[in-house]
Amino acid sequence: MKTVVIIGSGIAGLTCAVRTAEYGHKAVLVSPYPSERAQSVMAAGGINASLDTKGENDTVQSHIEDTLKGGCNIEDRESVTKMCEAAPGIIRWLEATGMVFTRDDNGNIDLRAFGGQSHKRTAFSGACTGKQIVTALIRKARQYECSGMLERKLGYWFHSGLIKDAKCYGALFYNENERKLEAMYADAVVVATGGQNQLFGKTTGSMLCDGYAAGKLFEQGAVLRNLEFIQYHPTTIETVQKRMLITEAARGEGGRLFYYAGEKRVYFMEDKYGARGNLMPRDIVSKCIYDAPSQVYLDVTFLGKDVILKRLYEVYELCMNYAGIDITKECIPVAPSVHFFMGGLAVDDSHCTNIDNLYAVGECASKYHGANRLGGNSLLAAVYSGMTAANAINEKECSREKADFNEFIIREEKDIEKRLRSKSKFSAVYIRQVLSELMNRDLGITRTESKLCEGIKSVDYYLSISDKFKFDSEVSPYQGYSLKSMLLLAKAILLSAKERKETRGAHIRDDYPERKPEFECASYATFINGNIEISFAKPYSDNKACKEEQ
Ligand code: FUM
Repeated sequence: MKTVVIIGSGIAGLTCAVRTAEYGHKAVLVSPYPSERAQSVMAAGGINASLDTKGENDTVQSHIEDTLKGGCNIEDRESVTKMCEAAPGIIRWLEATGMVFTRDDNGNIDLRAFGGQSHKRTAFSGACTGKQIVTALIRKARQYECSGMLERKLGYWFHSGLIKDAKCYGALFYNENERKLEAMYADAVVVATGGQNQLFGKTTGSMLCDGYAAGKLFEQGAVLRNLEFIQYHPTTIETVQKRMLITEAARGEGGRLFYYAGEKRVYFMEDKYGARGNLMPRDIVSKCIYDAPSQVYLDVTFLGKDVILKRLYEVYELCMNYAGIDITKECIPVAPSVHFFMGGLAVDDSHCTNIDNLYAVGECASKYHGANRLGGNSLLAAVYSGMTAANAINEKECSREKADFNEFIIREEKDIEKRLRSKSKFSAVYIRQVLSELMNRDLGITRTESKLCEGIKSVDYYLSISDKFKFDSEVSPYQGYSLKSMLLLAKAILLSAKERKETRGAHIRDDYPERKPEFECASYATFINGNIEISFAKPYSDNKACKEEQ
């Protein structure tokens, strides 16, 4: 029996834990908060699989082609093919696990249209699909908790990988209850910590997803990929705490985008792209909204109250509660906001990073989505990647070799104590705030060399004083020790964006507006001898090359 430590308890982590336990291995699911607080519960619109219950002759091949095209032709066909082929089976597995999908009048799983798709392919549960999947997986996980095959550890913040000579032996955590570092040794470690939302302040995602794990593992030798591709969701509304997502399902059900020119409504997406204009891929819709001469609105009123309450109830509730807008009668003012990160830890087909025994799943891994992800493919990738890593770990021969990390742990513990007592004026909590402001400023929907260089210069300054960061004792030391790696990750993102001198998908350069054939590949960031190096290569073959070089 192997022990697998899984960091992060959203859909990707939960799936991996459940599958690991199913295989008869011990899954240790570690997170600061319970699964009910994971970002996955915010996923609204649905999960893609070519089930063809609408009789549109949808095929797995169409799903593959739409995904590759939506990703602007830089993703690895083989990996995308495997995920799309697995999708219908994943829907059946989720159903068997207890997930309740919305069904049509004939009792078939209902499907809705989503952006960039040639057929209706998105299975859903109202507009709260993520919450329903999490609920089903939690129930399954509890069964394994009862039998002792799955252990949950709450109140633990990731600190670092226990890594020596490009091999991972476990992970170190800050135990919030005991207020000390705690090592967990394992045969495999799976990172499922989500995207990099907090690095950008207000986004549609959870502030708990801050990119730290990816940044720290990068510092420890893991390769990062496609960091410049940051998806702006076209339709969000501003609230005090965050940007709330108005799910693409609202347009999938027929919702129309427009702005006013005087008294007249201009349906700019339909004018430019025809009848399916509102459902163009997100990179295109976001850029058009960004370029619109005045406030853009989303109109769903004409769908009627019955349809809205039946199929978009959560959107109705959200707009009513957070913005006082009755969407059965009024249009919604919308604007794009950071939503998803196509970049993250580079992984091979088994979701292993270039570090032996270290896997990455869900949004913190970069795979499948190329330069722009299609809506509904993230829930699919979350489940698929969690399953794939669990399968690979099950099949892998594991050595019982041990390594000693005591010295490292004592040193890190002393550093935290010292920083908590520090009288330095450089408060980590304050710098985190400044960092998110500068990332928003310099990595907006469109970018230029000069803005990116400005960002790099600012991040370099904060990195140069990182030895002086003071940890605020009012908040968890995590807020302090995570900052340096977040700065490194921020710099790697800015550098990747600077080096990709073209416009492709979610990466729009005002100074390089064309797509260029020499950039039809993924970008890779490596941290070598204290320096960040950016290179470009075809996705899958290069992953293998990275691994061999280490
Ligand atoms: O708009 C949405 O419901 C988002 C879905 C997704 O990002 O996959």
